[in-house]
Amino acid sequence: MANKLTQIAPPQGPATALIYNDWYPAMRGDGLREKKLATTVLMDIPMVLGRRSDGRIFAMRDLCPHRGIPLSYGWFDGQKLTCKYHGWSFDPCSGQCVEIPSLTSRDTLDPKRIYGTAFPCEERDGYVWVYVPAPGSGRVAADEALPPVPELPKFSTKFRSQHLTAELPCNVDHGIIGLMDPAHGPFVHQSWWWRKQASIHEKEKHFEPIEQGFRMSSHTPSANSAPYKLLGVYGKAITTTIDFVLPNRRYETVRAGDKWFSSITTVTPTVANACRIDVYAAWNIFYHVPFVTAIATFFGKRFVEQDQVTMIQQADGLRYDPALMLIDDADRPAKWYFALKQARLEAEKNGGPVRHPMDGPMTLRWRS
Ligand code: FES
Ligand SMILES: [Fe+2]
Repeated sequence: MANKLTQIAPPQGPATALIYNDWYPAMRGDGLREKKLATTVLMDIPMVLGRRSDGRIFAMRDLCPHRGIPLSYGWFDGQKLTCKYHGWSFDPCSGQCVEIPSLTSRDTLDPKRIYGTAFPCEERDGYVWVYVPAPGSGRVAADEALPPVPELPKFSTKFRSQHLTAELPCNVDHGIIGLMDPAHGPFVHQSWWWRKQASIHEKEKHFEPIEQGFRMSSHTPSANSAPYKLLGVYGKAITTTIDFVLPNRRYETVRAGDKWFSSITTVTPTVANACRIDVYAAWNIFYHVPFVTAIATFFGKRFVEQDQVTMIQQADGLRYDPALMLIDDADRPAKWYFALKQARLEAEKNGGPVRHPMDGPMTLRWRS
């Protein structure tokens, strides 16, 4: 199977299909302060976000249902959101209109039957996660069963954490396959403190299908080497798993005895043909241990910046909508992603389960 070239058909143009009916991180929650409104674009939807005086956060489509002016131009008193144009007021958590100032006692129109679009939203790991239903599917009922809100797995109550973000000028597919691409490491991330091109060697990794995604598992046999001693897990095995789960999440877990490092990385569509990468990591491994600094650097700012710069450069080429290639085995995870995404879009259209492209566990080999 090695070296088989596959065209992405149809070629990845400037935009791509989006996966709805799921949770996406809109922004960090600490940006939402009382009586202040924040705006962002998520899944090509303009959004206005805020925090009510009772602490509850909200995310509304930033368009007044009356005449379409962005609600963010209006006023927020900590309770209701009032449109700047004709003063309609909304409860921003439900989207329900609570007041239309122009109505007289002779009017029969009940403002409470009018709704702006409010999206379910929850805070996890410091992010505002917003549930985005398929366009045209109507209001999400308060009692509708939604998938669980994504959250970083943590393995002890005490831990340190860090978050990073970077805007990418390419569609979400390129962001995601860039994230799972093992072959760019020695080139994009080459540096003396990480690794050099000369260190490229053959790797063998085991993958298995999981629900709407796949897992790379590596089990390092226990060794009595210095890094293990430094970790304080002398003689204990280090296990690493990396999961990719639709629509856009990569979870990495490193565990050695009671020491752990965990991260969640998401690639979220913002405006059409652009996305944002968010990394949130937590760990209970001590900072001052040299070996751990290497791990932290791996997930560090520099690392994400190197990806970002490369994808900005890639966008220079993608503008011309070129035909692209996915090669075995290094691009096999990218192929799984495209197949899973297709299966999910089909399942949402026609009903039925998401058909998994993997038959069972698989071993991939590449040099990196
Ligand atoms: S446009 Fe918002 S109240 Fe009229
Ligand atoms: Fe990278």
